[in-house]
Amino acid sequence: MPPANHYAAYVFDAYGTLFDVHAAVRRHADAVGPDGQLLSEIWRNKQLEYSWVRALMGAYVDFWQLTEQALDFAIQKVPSVDASHRDALLEAYWELDCYEEVPTVLKALKDHGAKIAILSNGSRKMLESAVRNAALETVLDDVFSVEDLQTFKTTPSVYEMVTTAYRLYPDAVSFQSSNRWDVAGAQKFGFRTVWINRTANPDEYKDYSPDVVLPNLKLLS
Ligand code: LAC
Repeated sequence: MPPANHYAAYVFDAYGTLFDVHAAVRRHADAVGPDGQLLSEIWRNKQLEYSWVRALMGAYVDFWQLTEQALDFAIQKVPSVDASHRDALLEAYWELDCYEEVPTVLKALKDHGAKIAILSNGSRKMLESAVRNAALETVLDDVFSVEDLQTFKTTPSVYEMVTTAYRLYPDAVSFQSSNRWDVAGAQKFGFRTVWINRTANPDEYKDYSPDVVLPNLKLLS
């Protein structure tokens, strides 16, 4: 029998942690051509940069608009990609694949009595669509979107949405993210943090180290 949960709530970042952000370009790999991976990386990096800059400026627009603007930049930056694929790539972003272990891991944690939630920069609509596409509705207790606060991670009030809603101290929450910068923000807030280092990235933000590092969610407990 698996061990009992140690935490009252297990909260997951969405993009990159539960849902594969590179699945959109992969789905159209043949049409996009040989620079697909580069396109996908620029798309993701710009989307994140826009979120940080806008959080600092206090100029929130929803994550979908940032996703569109980031793709427009990426397409211009990678001239081998035909701009006519823009709409198909954006459409695919609404139905990203979840990583294969996600449904089983979430269900096992829930079966042991923990709250299971998403905490994401995504807009409510984007998250609803991704959750529905991955058939995760029944396993999730809550989907917390920054849309309620009109800012982005790593603003501390984003992480606070969870402790306020669940009336928990931060150290009763286990937070999982594949984004090292998100782990740093969550660690500073006081969550137990698990860095899901899917791509074997080097460590950074060493003054805000994760409590646990895993290559995927399978060994999460
Ligand atoms: C999220 C992005 C940052 O889901 O991955 O919040």
